[in-house]
Amino acid sequence: MEVKIAQLLTVISMIVLVLVAVDASVPAVFIFGDSTADVGNNNFLPASKAKANFPPYGIDFVQSRATGRFSNGLNSADFLAKMMGFKRSPPPFLSLTNNTLLKHARRGINFASGGSGILDTTGSIYGQTVRANLTAHMGTTATEKLLEKSIFLISTGSNDILDYFTPNGSVNRPPMTAFLSTLSITYKGHLRQLYNLGARKIGVISIPPIGCCPSQRSLNDTGGCLEVLNESARAFYIATVAIMKDLSGELKGLKYSLGNAYEMVINFFRNALKFGFTELKSACCGAGKFNGESPCLPFSSPCSAREKHLFWDLFHPTQNASKIAAQTLFSGSHEFVTPINFGQLAEGCS
Ligand SMILES: *[C@@H]1O[C@H](CO)[C@@H](O)[C@H](O)[C@H]1NC(C)=O
Ligand SMILES: *[C@@H]1O[C@H](CO)[C@@H](O)[C@H](O)[C@H]1NC(C)=O
Ligand SMILES: *[C@@H]1O[C@H](CO)[C@@H](O)[C@H](O)[C@H]1NC(C)=O
Ligand SMILES: *[C@@H]1O[C@H](CO)[C@@H](O)[C@H](O)[C@H]1NC(C)=O
Ligand SMILES: *[C@@H]1O[C@H](CO)[C@@H](O)[C@H](O)[C@H]1NC(C)=O
Ligand SMILES: *[C@@H]1O[C@H](CO)[C@@H](O)[C@H](O)[C@H]1NC(C)=O
Repeated sequence: MEVKIAQLLTVISMIVLVLVAVDASVPAVFIFGDSTADVGNNNFLPASKAKANFPPYGIDFVQSRATGRFSNGLNSADFLAKMMGFKRSPPPFLSLTNNTLLKHARRGINFASGGSGILDTTGSIYGQTVRANLTAHMGTTATEKLLEKSIFLISTGSNDILDYFTPNGSVNRPPMTAFLSTLSITYKGHLRQLYNLGARKIGVISIPPIGCCPSQRSLNDTGGCLEVLNESARAFYIATVAIMKDLSGELKGLKYSLGNAYEMVINFFRNALKFGFTELKSACCGAGKFNGESPCLPFSSPCSAREKHLFWDLFHPTQNASKIAAQTLFSGSHEFVTPINFGQLAEGCS
């Protein structure tokens, strides 16, 4: 009996979710960030070394296609777009031509690029182009209306922290506090720029415990996480909380959700079995200690039990981990996403 009620509740909540998704008048979703959200932009950047457009990337994608996503299948940006009621995840900006750009701009575009960071962004410049394109074709008022109802997702910051800790003899590293302060000021500037472009609903995904990536774990003799990286991620989350509070006080009409990716991943570690993960340390594809000493190389063989792995390659989560992360962002509690979750951000059409 209890089981049946539980099942019924699940079905009802699924129906409610679907209705909310259908009812939500989010016309478009624009996605910015790094490899955690890239759906193929880097395929168009010959100079970029961050590539995932070869098998076994995409092994669990439709027709096992390697799309440039840094995953065995979909990533969190894909799942979030679906949960917000979109049939298809927004296409990579760099795949669009003059003829297809406007059609897609009305439903959303993905500007995320693997390897990018807060201190090294291209997305916001592209965003300005698209706004100009929309304005030229729809007029200022219609463009403003479209953008103010749209969702802007941002997932970035990990590469900035990783770069900071990558030894580079030719550069004097500023102290950590100074670095985080520069990062915060720059991020705040980018977010303000998005607002100035017309964004009113911004979903921010913070930095996960990057010290626990297989690439970093492989550097620790005990196999533990690298603490400085975890601590930086946590410190930057606290800084981001302050940034978002400041901006929402300052910028009229701004609504936001801030996802705490650090806590979300810690929750994976704590409740691994509940989510079906039995391998939290080793990547599914790669080589060396924890498969974290080499990237996932073209045509190499990945592990077979992909659904049991938290990590797909030395830096990135598996499709299943991304899905759970997206679900948590979309409908999770205050512990993981504040002040409202991404579902609530998408709902309100005031
Ligand atoms: C693209 O479209 C714009 C506006 O319609 C036009 O001004 C521009 O010349 C086009 N560019 C190309 C390469 O066709
Ligand atoms: C979009 O704007 C850019 C920069 O102004 C321009 O080069 C491009 O042709 C525009 N495309 C369309 C379809 O209007
Ligand atoms: C070190 O940093 C400088 C300046 O940012 C850059 O030009 C150089 O390529 C870096 N070297 C390495 C080995 O990463
Ligand atoms: C390596 O992991 C251990 C836990 O196993 C931790 O105590 C230690 O601080 C880590 N080392 C570094 C350099 O972060
Ligand atoms: C990350 O490092 C911190 C210490 O800075 C540690 O407390 C935490 O347990 C680590 N995270 C995980 C998931 O091991
Ligand atoms: C992910 O989880 C689902 C169940 O939620 C399962 O059917 C699927 O096989 C898993 N594996 C992958 C690789 O997605």
